[in-house]
Amino acid sequence: MLRRLFLLVAFGALGTLAACVQHEPLHAVPVVGQHGMVVCTEPLAAEAGLSMLRAGGNCVDAAVATAFALAVTWPSAGNLGGGGFMVMHLADGRETALDFRETAPVAATRDMYLGPDGKPIPERSTIGHLGVATPGSVPGLCAALARYGTKPLATVLAPAIALAESGYPLSAHHVAALNGERKLLSKNAESLRIFLCAGNKLQVGQQFKQPELARTLRRLAEYGEQEFRTGETAQLIAAEMQRSAGILSAADLVNYNVHARAPLRGRYRNYDILAMPPPSSGGVALLQMLGMLEAFDLRAMDWESARARHWIIESMKRAFADRTRHLGDPDQSDIPVTQLLSPAHIAAMRDSLGERAATPSAAALPLTRERHETTHLSVVDAHGGAVAITTTLNGSFGSGVTVAGAGFLLNNEMDDFASAPGVPNMYGLVQGEANAVAPLRRPLSSMTPTVLLRDGNVVFVTGSPGGPTIISTVLLSILAFVDAGADAAAAVEAARFHHQWNPDQLSFEPATFNALQRAALEKRGHRFVASPRFQGDCHAIQRNPATGVLQGAADPRHGGRAAGW
Ligand code: DON
Repeated sequence: MLRRLFLLVAFGALGTLAACVQHEPLHAVPVVGQHGMVVCTEPLAAEAGLSMLRAGGNCVDAAVATAFALAVTWPSAGNLGGGGFMVMHLADGRETALDFRETAPVAATRDMYLGPDGKPIPERSTIGHLGVATPGSVPGLCAALARYGTKPLATVLAPAIALAESGYPLSAHHVAALNGERKLLSKNAESLRIFLCAGNKLQVGQQFKQPELARTLRRLAEYGEQEFRTGETAQLIAAEMQRSAGILSAADLVNYNVHARAPLRGRYRNYDILAMPPPSSGGVALLQMLGMLEAFDLRAMDWESARARHWIIESMKRAFADRTRHLGDPDQSDIPVTQLLSPAHIAAMRDSLGERAATPSAAALPLTRERHETTHLSVVDAHGGAVAITTTLNGSFGSGVTVAGAGFLLNNEMDDFASAPGVPNMYGLVQGEANAVAPLRRPLSSMTPTVLLRDGNVVFVTGSPGGPTIISTVLLSILAFVDAGADAAAAVEAARFHHQWNPDQLSFEPATFNALQRAALEKRGHRFVASPRFQGDCHAIQRNPATGVLQGAADPRHGGRAAGW
């Protein structure tokens, strides 16, 4: 039986609000359907995707509609000015891993975030124009639709346009997220005016309209992807950058490339795993962790026991150690993916696991807290086609820079590079040479959109935000599904914990470990550091391949929604 977590933080989960303690069990609301399912963090965006499925669209139409709607209804992470990854398995068997990750502008230089002392200048890569990498979301979503969708761009954009034009009532989640980033958003006049309503108090229920964004989306519907490369929107971005000494140029927008990559394919017990290759570290790490864990009968030992968790934590550490050493943009460095996923390497990793003792990490660094800053959506259509998209501005509301006249925020994805290899970024991640800043390089990511198949049929779709904790959250949802026989709802409810090798600390959600388990793990040498709040926002869909019945479940930690029919 899966444990039920206890809700510790209500609105504090979305920002820096004081935690308000509630003791309610975490319950995901499962939604059952046969014709299609969309699950994401914001109900109106889920409905936008569902409307495409109801109108006969496929999973790609629905996913693209949801992603564009999230750019309107979830401005902290849904975006036009960011990037993301999409893993898909279509009903006709086509599979791809679409990489629309942001890319360093051509003018980027290795030392651009360092001071004269060679140390990173605080906030230079996180706040304002210099942190902005060339956005990939619009080219990526347009490419996905053109190659794999069935509906015209204007149709798929229609729900987003309506939501921007007519507005939507701000939820408690919106108000908490916006208030939580007041400081960042107040640094930029357009962000202050639009997202903080010019400094007026934000009220739950107030209608939030975004006329500039609606006009941008209308232009996109009319002129297509070119609008973002050479059209008025591109000009507005370039002008925004020029005004504030940003380095992103009009040429960067013109030259941005979407990459359709081969998904990583792995196997865990009787399931095939489709995962995101580099520049995500997520797929490699996930397949390594599953490869190590395959050797243990987690089901027999109870996957929530201290013993099982010891193996899980030790697997996490080893995969993260490889991430640091080896991963980066495959188009710029030689990333040894084949070797990292080779049976021999995984066997060696597994052989290094010890039953009795945790392996200490080499160095200890402070773990920065996770915030609610990326977003994931899962879609399955009536024919068994599936899409998993994780998309981000990186930090909550990205760089805090809104493109004047265009109404959307720009990312601060440059912070995902190692400003100085060996020095931790905003997630405490230490990274190697392959992830140093370089022109036209994609920064290493942890986003892990993932699809599970059984005998060629989609059975589970999952993904989450959470910086490096994404990989652990996705792993735990898969272990719950495969090893504990959990349905989608129980898989997203399952307790979460995370170890990223460096710092040598285990972060965990409240009530994940009981006193006995904790003592047993501490005795082995695991160092516990309570997370200030929840880990991740995982949205999953489970499909019965025999009947086609779908169960969707949004993560109960936040305000998500499964919408199906
Ligand atoms: O690509 C990455 O790994 C990060 N930019 C993701 C950031 C993130 O998930 C923050 N969210 N909570």
